[in-house]
Amino acid sequence: MCQKKLKALPKNITIDGPAASGKTTIGTIVANKIGYMCLDTGIMYRAVAFQALKEGIEISDEAAVTSLAERIEIDILPATSQDGRQFDVIINGEDHTWDIRTAAVNAVVSEVSVYPGVRKAMTLQQRKIAEKGKIVMIGRDIGTVVLPDAELKIYLDASVEVRAQRRYVEDLSHGKDACLEDVVDSLRHRDEIDSGRVVAPLKAADDAIVIDSDKMTVYEVVEFVMGLLEMRE
Ligand code: CDP
Repeated sequence: MCQKKLKALPKNITIDGPAASGKTTIGTIVANKIGYMCLDTGIMYRAVAFQALKEGIEISDEAAVTSLAERIEIDILPATSQDGRQFDVIINGEDHTWDIRTAAVNAVVSEVSVYPGVRKAMTLQQRKIAEKGKIVMIGRDIGTVVLPDAELKIYLDASVEVRAQRRYVEDLSHGKDACLEDVVDSLRHRDEIDSGRVVAPLKAADDAIVIDSDKMTVYEVVEFVMGLLEMRE
């Protein structure tokens, strides 16, 4: 890819979409290609859900979960172990990179993410991180709420069957005892809550470019996004 073609890169790029649509895979590759940082904001909501479970906070206790979100310290750092992780996820000083990916966290993360106070606390941190620019930010509401002025917004979609199959293979590759039907149920459950919530629901921004990746390889999606960057010249 010739540098000249990419000289008018956008300050930030947003990638939103439903669970397991490939946002992090695509976002990481694109970010590496153009020298941007990649932030998967799902990690932050997962961290709040994990810490609530760890502290024995009732997930239905909105005030307690919100107060936790306001005080939690989440650091997303370059990976220090070669165990398949993309980042180290440090929560209140401890490495919980894999603990935020358990079925227990999957089961409650979307409920935690509905609370407006939790979203406000996370959104504030995300905007601060994006201030300097050169970020590919991934989530559900990045193009609509967190960075509505971003110049390039992608909405990455795929059918629930294809997404479940991808997540199932990913889980198996991490040594998890996965069951395809459970993965389908878990994705459906989260999608339903994420799309139906009042504050910052999962949806494509009006000015987002929607990519249906059902029949596309990772390589094809990356090439498509790189093509969008070239077209900006
Ligand atoms: O990786 P996966 O697609 O399974 O999900 P994730 O990106 O890790 O996000 C986990 C959950 O966090 C989602 O199902 C949403 O409930 C919530 N989330 C959100 O509400 N807003 C975001 N910007 C990112 C994640």
